[in-house]
Order: sequence, then C-alpha cells, then structure tokens
Amino acid sequence: MMKNITPHNFYIDKEERNKQNGHNSLVVWFTGLSGSGKSTLANQVEKKLFEKGIKTFSLDGDNIRSGLNRDLGFSPEEREENLRRIAEVAKLFIKAGTVVIASFISPLKKDRDRLKEIVGVENFVEVFVNTSLEECERRDVKGLYKKARSGEIKNFTGIDAPYENPIDPELKINTEEENLEDAIKRIVLHLQDKLKIS
Ligand code: PPS
Repeated sequence: MMKNITPHNFYIDKEERNKQNGHNSLVVWFTGLSGSGKSTLANQVEKKLFEKGIKTFSLDGDNIRSGLNRDLGFSPEEREENLRRIAEVAKLFIKAGTVVIASFISPLKKDRDRLKEIVGVENFVEVFVNTSLEECERRDVKGLYKKARSGEIKNFTGIDAPYENPIDPELKINTEEENLEDAIKRIVLHLQDKLKIS
C-alpha cells in the first residue's frame, strides 16, 4: 500500500505549533453507547476549552458519517474502517496543533486499541461515558432503540451488536450519578494539566 510513497518532513512541526499556541495538542476521545451523553459532554468541554483560548475542533458522527465516511455503515468491518479513518484525521489535527474532541461509540476494545496506536497513546485521553443500556434506552432521544428492538435497524450497539466497556479509561463519567456540570469541570481540570495550561 505504501509502495513508492516518501513522507515529507515539513519545516513547521507539531512542537513549533504547540509553542506558538501555548498549549499541547491531543485527542479527547469520548466512547459510550448511543444516547449515553457523549456529544453533550464533548460539546460542553469544547466550549470551555475554546473560551480559554485553546484551539479545538470536534469530530463526531454528524460531520464524519455525512461526509468523509458516508460510504460506511455499521457492520463490524465498517465500524473498524470508520474509526481508522477518524484516527488518521485526528492525527493530522494533532500535528496541526489542535485539541480534537472526538465523540464516537467506538464499541470494540481492539478498534480503540488500534486508534490509540494510530494517534499515539501519549496524545490520547480516553473518556468512558458510562451510561447503562437501560438508561440510554429509557432516554431514547433519537428513537433508535425502539427501531432496533422492532428489527427496523440491524446491528444496533447494545441491542444486537456488542459494546465492550473500556477496562482502564483515563476518565470515567457515570452520568446517572454525577451531574453534568461536575462531570464537565472534572474533565476540563484533568485536561488543563495535560495541555499544560492554567
Ligand atoms: S461507531 O460504532 O463508533 O462506528 O459509530 P459512530 O460513528 O459513533 O456512529 C454512531 C451514531 O450513528 C447512529 N446509528 C447507529 N449507532 C449504533 N448502531 C447502529 N446500527 C446505528 N445506526 C445509526 C446513532 O445515531 C449514533 O449516534 P450517537 O450520537 O452515538 O447516538
């Protein structure tokens, strides 16, 4: 695949950009079931970081699955390819000096391990949005669980497709026990340290 390809070294590298921006670049990866609250948390965290003058960009299903990955569905192979491409995009953003806020179900440990490898484990903060299937299904914000239960949607995560809980995530948010504001504060505080900002 890589035959006859010679990567180019650019004068301006990640370190130069991070120095100019005054913060490190990394990816904050929110994983959890559909309806777990990933996007809500990710959005609020991005807003807080942006208000601190940090260069951020959000990647989520809406801007990826309707564009770059519009050819992909939800089979195990397609999810793997979905996440691989997103990891490659995140890697470029990190080189560009940006803090990437990524919000994807990313249900399988092997796929999450691979994307950590692509992005670089030192640039990766895994946030497990731990909301139970019962609660996600009770909320059913998009009406997708109902469709999955009736068989209208196949391969739906948690119903007839697996979700493997992260074993040792850097942060774990129990949305059923912790209120949203406290969770956001906790994530931002953790990131401040990683980004080397006050
Ligand atoms: S994955 O598993 O990481 O590749 O999925 P992701 O790219 O995050 O896309 C999840 C959103 O797609 C909608 N959707 C489905 N989710 C799970 N399973 C099936 N079969 C499915 N079909 C459509 C759903 O709205 C997910 O959005 P969120 O924000 O997670 O609810």
